[in-house]
This record gives sequence, C-alpha cells and structure tokens, in this order.
Amino acid sequence: MRIIKDLKEMRVCAQKSRSLDLKAVFVPTMGCLHDGHRELLRIGKRLGGLLALSIFVNPAQFGPTEDFNSYPRDLERDLRIAEEEGVDIVFTPLAPDMYPEGYSTYVEVGGLGERLCGVSRPGHFKGVATVVLKLFNLVMPEAAIFGKKDYQQLLIIKKMVRDLDLDIEIIEAETVREPDGLARSSRNRYLSAAEREAARAVPEAIAAAKEAFSAGLVEAPLLIGKMKKIIEKQPRAVIDYIKVCDKDSLEDLDKIETDGLVALAVKVGRARLIDNCVLAKGA
Ligand code: PAJ
Repeated sequence: MRIIKDLKEMRVCAQKSRSLDLKAVFVPTMGCLHDGHRELLRIGKRLGGLLALSIFVNPAQFGPTEDFNSYPRDLERDLRIAEEEGVDIVFTPLAPDMYPEGYSTYVEVGGLGERLCGVSRPGHFKGVATVVLKLFNLVMPEAAIFGKKDYQQLLIIKKMVRDLDLDIEIIEAETVREPDGLARSSRNRYLSAAEREAARAVPEAIAAAKEAFSAGLVEAPLLIGKMKKIIEKQPRAVIDYIKVCDKDSLEDLDKIETDGLVALAVKVGRARLIDNCVLAKGA
C-alpha cells in the first residue's frame, strides 16, 4: 500500500497508472474509518483495478461554528483498516497544500446545494463539491464510490459530474447501520451513552415512515408528523428538519405519488445525525 501526501506525487502516480491502463476506483473520505467506509472500499475492491482512498478533513466544508477542529482523526487506525481492505493508494493531502494562501476557486451546485442540509449548513456543499473536484483531478479515477447515507451529497456529486462533463462513473453504496439501525458515522463517537439511546429515535422515525407508507399513508404532513412524534419523545434530540421531497430535485412534496425521499437531520448532544430513505410504491 502506497501512502501519498504530496499533490504532485499523487498526480504523477495517477498519470502513470493511466498510461499503464490501470483503472482506479476512488473512495474519498474524511477518515476515522468505520464499517460504512469499509463497505465502500469492498465495493471498490470487487470492481478490480487500483483501489484509491483519500483521507482529508476538508476545512472548506465546515462552518465557522462547526466541529472542524474536534472532528475525530486517527490516521494510524485508518491506515490499518485501509491495509485490511486491500487499498492500493492512500492519499492524505495537507490543508495548506489543498488550499494555499490566495486560494479562491469554488464549485457551487445550484439548487440542490441550497436545500435540506444546505439551509442550516450554508456553504457546506460548496466546500464538498470543491474538494471532491480537486480530489478527482489529482487521483484521476475511472469511478468513485459515495454512500447513500449522505444522499444529498451523492446527488450533488452526480450533478457536478454531469454539469462539468467529468468522465467519472459515480457508484452508489447502501447505508451501513449499527445493529439497532443507527447509520454508522464518524460523528457517532460524540454521543454519550444516554445520547446514544436517544439517537435510536432517528432510524425508528425512518422505520415508522416506511411502515406508514406501506400501509397507504402518502401525505407528506402526516408522514412528517409521525416521525416528529417519535423524535420529540427524546428530550435530548433536537430536530433540524424532517422532509418528504422529490428524490431527484429535493423539492418538497405534498404527497408521494410514485416515490419520494424521506430525510431528516437531528441534533443529539454535539452530534448532528442525518438519515434518509426512498419510499416507492410497489417496492
Ligand atoms: P465521510 O463522512 O468520511 O464519508 C465518506 C464516504 O463514506 C461518503 O461517500 C459517505 O456517504 C460514506 N458513508 C459514510 N457513512 C456511511 C454509512 N453509514 N454507510 C454507507 N456509506 C457511508 O462524506 C464525506 O466524508 C466528505 O463530505 C467527502 C465526500 C469525503 C468530501 O470531503
């Protein structure tokens, strides 16, 4: 496994691999790897070719009051996991190299970036799209894998790839969950035992929406009401949003005609937890 920190070295390595017709599959992450990340790496491994992983806590996607400084970092453990999963290249750039003094170019995916999490995290998706494009340019992969846990992020990356004519296939991975249903996340580490208990309400709310929809409930306010009731039972949980929206445009729906996305963001202690599921008739 080769570990590359230097941007120029990464580019040379990517160009060399391309010239040898070695196809690279890329998994970008912010590290503190968990089973969700492992799943992405396993999908990549199964595709064959070179498996590239990036670990970079991207300052551009954190707001001024967010957890950039305290975001969990554990490179040694991450490298062990990368080795176990058969990663070929780990790219660990430094922030001053990615954003040197005077850096001023950003990518904004209009519309999609302003909805759901974009409301309470202004500028977040601009930071995400920018770093992902920079990483794509440095790693030069044929394909890149993103998790559906961050559904809005996945849509934004797909839109950026389309809009900017990038020649990269975007592969989607299902959400990996803890045994009680909570989606795995590096931020779950922030939860105390009592907060971890309260956090179960998030997948419970998703499960309740699924069940109600299967039983014929399609009106967005009613589905949202059911989910809200479950979250509000937990005094430690503070709702940021609960939405029923179009699964492609993320615009609010009044009712689900054929399919729709249910998405929510809930703050429990210091952790902002997000989850979602697509509800579809006949699925
Ligand atoms: P990070 O939160 O580290 O996630 C990296 C990738 O892992 C993303 O594609 C995310 O959707 C996926 N992932 C996280 N938890 C998952 C889970 N429980 N199940 C399945 N996939 C999961 O997302 C980011 O980093 C950053 O925004 C990044 C894209 C790297 C840009 O900085």
